Amino acid sequence: MFEQNNCSITPIDQASSLRNMNTIDEINVIAVTGGKGGVGKTNIAINLSIALADLQRKVMLLDADFGLSNVDVMLGLRTRKNLYHVLKNECGIEDIIIPGPHGIQIIPASSGIREMANLNAHEHMGIIDSISHFNPTLDYFIIDTAAGISDSVSMFTHLANSILVVVCDEPASLADAYALIKVLSKKGVKKKFQIITNMVESSAHGERLFSQLEKVSNHFLEASLEYCGYIPNDKYIKKAIKKQKSVIDAYPSSRSSLGFARLAREINNKPIPTIISGSVELFLERQLSNQ
Ligand SMILES: Nc1ncnc2c1ncn2[C@@H]1O[C@H](COP(=O)(O)OP(=O)(O)OP(=O)(O)O)[C@@H](O)[C@H]1O
Ligand SMILES: [Mg+2]
Repeated sequence: MFEQNNCSITPIDQASSLRNMNTIDEINVIAVTGGKGGVGKTNIAINLSIALADLQRKVMLLDADFGLSNVDVMLGLRTRKNLYHVLKNECGIEDIIIPGPHGIQIIPASSGIREMANLNAHEHMGIIDSISHFNPTLDYFIIDTAAGISDSVSMFTHLANSILVVVCDEPASLADAYALIKVLSKKGVKKKFQIITNMVESSAHGERLFSQLEKVSNHFLEASLEYCGYIPNDKYIKKAIKKQKSVIDAYPSSRSSLGFARLAREINNKPIPTIISGSVELFLERQLSNQ
């Protein structure tokens, strides 16, 4: 864990962090999550960012899988510094942002550094604080979260205006998505969960999968779910990953690339969901006081 005295985030000015969160409120902050590992969160976060940029939107992508980040690797980008160096007070957030494809901006995380996988609420707040002080004009701030239901995932989903939950047709994926929605709802998330079905064979297959999740959620939870669309199972995604390119760039006419364009239009046509006033502050104060 980081020493409180030798990283840039301390002494943390909690009040100013909370105030600065408002600057983030004006853009659509989207957390891509899903519970289970390997369901396609990072791939969706990357290609959705690019597809939104193709709609002339300004997009920043945060790699929030702090322990095992791989947005930069998936895109074949070189990074010299990342959020680890920001937390160590070696540089500011503006020094680590790298330009990605189609004009998107990327905030890279570190990979394989144990303390990054175990950040406490103060350290998370430090990252959020430095991002909110660095105030570029943006339309979308996309957050690629880690697998699981860690404090980190819960922190970023609380901050986001929209929570995209990625599910695929595996019992473990449905079970983990359900568990994630349940835990977040219990922790006070009152937003609609937007479900994306991934690696499905058809639109009907995606809808069936969504109905399954919706049925159990309606029965046992108070959470409200909304279907956001599907990304088909597509061998070109693996091929693009091997080339360290987005599928949109490597195979623009593949069915998944068309799926990402459709998803981006769907999201871009919706009004930005508003966060219930005071809910973020309440949650963060609770998290901080638990440390
Ligand atoms: N629509 C798809 N069609 C085919 N393969 C896919 C699709 N989406 C993702 N994949 C495959 O799934 C693998 C995992 O994807 P990705 O790394 O995006 O998942 P993740 O949920 O971010 O994983 P982690 O939880 O480890 O961060 C990719 O390497 C890719 O091969
Ligand atoms: Mg990932």
